[in-house]
Amino acid sequence: MTILQNVSLRHLNTFGIEAKAKEYCRITCKDELKQVLSKKSKHPLFVLGGGSNMLLTKDVDALVLHIDIKGIEVIDSDDTHVTVEAKAGENWHHFVMWCIKHNYGGVENLSLIPGNVGTAPIQNIGAYGVELKDIMVSCEAINIKTQEERIFNKDQCKFAYRESIFKNELKNQYIITSVRFRLTKTDHKLNMDYGAIKDELKKNHIDNPQIRDISNAVIAIRQSKLPDPKEIGNSGSFFKNPIIDNEQLEKLQNNFSDIPYYRVSDSKVKVPAGWLIEKAGFKGKRLGDYGVHNKQALVLVNYGNAKGTDILNLALLIQKTVLRIFNIRIETEVNII
Ligand code: EPU
Repeated sequence: MTILQNVSLRHLNTFGIEAKAKEYCRITCKDELKQVLSKKSKHPLFVLGGGSNMLLTKDVDALVLHIDIKGIEVIDSDDTHVTVEAKAGENWHHFVMWCIKHNYGGVENLSLIPGNVGTAPIQNIGAYGVELKDIMVSCEAINIKTQEERIFNKDQCKFAYRESIFKNELKNQYIITSVRFRLTKTDHKLNMDYGAIKDELKKNHIDNPQIRDISNAVIAIRQSKLPDPKEIGNSGSFFKNPIIDNEQLEKLQNNFSDIPYYRVSDSKVKVPAGWLIEKAGFKGKRLGDYGVHNKQALVLVNYGNAKGTDILNLALLIQKTVLRIFNIRIETEVNII
């Protein structure tokens, strides 16, 4: 375990933004993590997972702990279910592919989400009708101050849409080291409610889909509208879909009769931020080396050498414009550093 000085983070964030870490340490096991946490660094700590949910707008004046702990194993198994533990540094999509290969069901709708297993619970990743909370049993984390290990069961994580206790009450207090999932071995409960999945299966004449078919459909859908961070720097959805009340929806419908929405409760609906941003005229807009993706307006992109501050300024302009047109405040999903 070595602490390096002034390390470029460009290849460690999916936006591909150049920024330097004052100090950097790659962590490959729990003991290394405890050891480095117990030594008092003169710099604050910054925990880095897959780097897929952050926008670096400046150098990181901290000791960056790059959580790179690997391993996937079956913990428990019966005739119908299996409990799998994946370490925090496993690439999320690699983990999903491992499950598909073993015919373990539950994660297939979450194929191709960028990032690592250990950061998935922090924002309760979700796509195509499934959220992490639907399959997670527990996660293990280390207290940054005391280095004590703690198991959080699902309820203790206080999951909500792109939310968890780790983003709120316990922000910056724990580092997740592994996550356990309960998956199906037989009678897989396929989630095909999302129209795009049904369409993709139909297109490929798949009448009796297996979990691999769902995964392939999700991969095809994502590839058709979300840019691959290896080719174009991005952080997935830059904004969260805002939740508004019925009264505001009715007012908006007077001017925008085609506004799409999904009901989340009797009194509230979720509106796709991508639609609001597209209507505000930003979809596909390119300003030099950065812009708004042309197939999904929720995604901001770095075409090459954009600065984090450029992208941040564009995000602020989008927020301001959406607020002015729709009177809706859209919040960022990505962490701004
Ligand atoms: N839409 C537009 N224009 C756009 C984008 C979207 O009009 O440029 C409208 C369309 O009406 C479309 C609707 O928004 O039918 C929904 O679009 P989509 O199915 O692409 O989903 P989303 O709400 O834009 C969310 C997640 C994605 C996830 C998809 C699929 C958030 C913030 N984003 O996007 O998550 O993949 O649903 O479940 O909830 C991510 O978090 O990085 C991410 C990509």
